[in-house]
Amino acid sequence: MSGIDTDCITLTRYVLAEQKKHPQATGDLTQLLTALLTAVKAVSSAVRKAGIASLYGISGTANTSGDEQKKLDVIANDLFINMLKSSFSTCLLVSEENDNVIQVETEKQGKYIVCFDPLDGSSNIDCLVSIGSIFGIYRKTTEGPPTVKDALQPGRNTVAAGYALYGSATMVVLSVGNGVQGFMLDPAIGEFILTEKNIKIKPRGKIYSLNEGYEQYWDEATKEYVKSKKFPESGKPYGGRYIGSMVADVHRTLMYGGIFMYPATTQSPKGKLRLLYECNPMAYVMEQAGGKASTGTSPILDLQPTEIHQRSPIFLGSKEDVEDVEAVYKKHAK
Ligand code: AHM
Ligand code: MG
Repeated sequence: MSGIDTDCITLTRYVLAEQKKHPQATGDLTQLLTALLTAVKAVSSAVRKAGIASLYGISGTANTSGDEQKKLDVIANDLFINMLKSSFSTCLLVSEENDNVIQVETEKQGKYIVCFDPLDGSSNIDCLVSIGSIFGIYRKTTEGPPTVKDALQPGRNTVAAGYALYGSATMVVLSVGNGVQGFMLDPAIGEFILTEKNIKIKPRGKIYSLNEGYEQYWDEATKEYVKSKKFPESGKPYGGRYIGSMVADVHRTLMYGGIFMYPATTQSPKGKLRLLYECNPMAYVMEQAGGKASTGTSPILDLQPTEIHQRSPIFLGSKEDVEDVEAVYKKHAK
């Protein structure tokens, strides 16, 4: 026994097999995901050797929200844009790091639109806490040259979505609309191998996750819900975990169950997280895993975006935990 799986399922192999289930499929999505994985592998490598390669520090430019961009953010963004454009499968890109949509040159255009956060959780880069990339893929539904309107689709239209987590290992979690699969990067061969098949989230968890430092800014419903987890009428309180890196917090929620929240605050009345490339892809993965994602009053995936960088409050995770939040919001709306 060599210990080598000579028939392992790589991410590309998985996507190819999924596409074969649809006779009309062209293979473009496989091409797109392969390009995206190249970016993810390069980002993973840059993240891993960041200190040695002097990648730390501020790059001197600011992104759309006025945050300072780190060098790694810029590298990750360039990688995503260049790889996706040259996959000949995309026509429009939305990146957290770019004010406007990115048009793909006509000769390279394909039918997909990709919304992504190339490196989320950048405040965690310098202390080696896990960070990630998030992506959502849509089909262009109109005729003619792509415009910003093509990117303003509700999350329900998602064709595929997922994230890469640069944690103690690099993992890609992906859904192409047929459940959720987890692929671990095997650095020895540079391939993502299917290690977590058909991930399902527990119907109820034991962990709540949000930035409790902002409690004075929360609305009454959030305050009441969190209090009910800390001081339950019966049974044990939930455990609290908050990394401050959405990908890591959502991945833990997916694997262990529970609830991740970034509610509206008086300082940020729409919350902090961005609908197109943070909330929607995570909401899609959660629903595909049997969980839920809500604004508190409606499913995230039903929101009709009006701006590419718009924000939304989000509560996501185990179905029953999210339903508990919704029940508290309903009570407060009366
Ligand atoms: P970023 O896109 O600027 O990196 O911000 C997004 C991050 C998420 O990863 C995380 O969930 C959230 O910001 C944490 O925000 P806060 O520090 O307000 O708790
Ligand atoms: Mg982000």
